[in-house]
Amino acid sequence: MTKIILISSPKGGSGKSVITRHLLVAAAQQGKKVIGIDFDRQGTIDKWGRRRSALRLKMPDFIDIPVVAAQLQDWRAGLGRSSGYDIAIIDTPPSVEDHMSAITGLAQAANIVIVPSACTQDDVDSVAPWIEVLRQSTNNSAVVLNRANRRTNSFARVRGRLIKVADVAPVEIPQLEDVHVPSGQGLTLLDFTKSRGQEPFEELWAFVDRKINQ
Ligand SMILES: Nc1ncnc2c1ncn2[C@@H]1O[C@H](COP(=O)(O)OP(=O)(O)OP(=O)(O)O)[C@@H](O)[C@H]1O
Ligand SMILES: [Mg+2]
Repeated sequence: MTKIILISSPKGGSGKSVITRHLLVAAAQQGKKVIGIDFDRQGTIDKWGRRRSALRLKMPDFIDIPVVAAQLQDWRAGLGRSSGYDIAIIDTPPSVEDHMSAITGLAQAANIVIVPSACTQDDVDSVAPWIEVLRQSTNNSAVVLNRANRRTNSFARVRGRLIKVADVAPVEIPQLEDVHVPSGQGLTLLDFTKSRGQEPFEELWAFVDRKINQ
């Protein structure tokens, strides 16, 4: 059976697509047969996958990651593209209110829903009610703090508030200035043998992998 990982948050720019592509590569590097399904009309992951395929024509050592674009209006067909894979990681747009039945349908089908959140009050205001909505569709969701700086008061404050309303992943993704750079070639930080910021994504994958196999 394909394990479905849904990445969803109503907050734009919270890190859904960054986390989607790093989890795709982390899972593939572990030998899983993965597919990315991009339900966002912006096509961030779809375009990233196309750049990756183009790069692999010249540099086939980079691990193959198939990505398909799909439409929330036809979410069952999009989800169906996951068949035959070990893992499907689904990226979604922030406009959850416009697509409530599709996203809750995907959440019901998912083995886990990952909700990225930056460490501001605005993010808490947006993520906390979304967790409540998701609870009606899934009992396996986790907030992942993104752009986190453990040394700041705002990090501790936001984490404290979210812990009261959600399962918060034990690993957070720090602020990584260069996280977007490899994407220009369809890559991630994990595609290089040594680059700063790999461990949090590897640990996040280890956490997600454990949760979907519980
Ligand atoms: N940990 C991080 N450190 C630094 N920059 C980050 C981090 N995570 C995300 N970003 C940057 O923030 C921006 C938004 O990230 P991303 O595209 O992943 O968010 P998103 O939730 O998918 O946005 P949207 O809701 O528009 O789809 C991007 O420019 C990305 O490079
Ligand atoms: Mg996105």
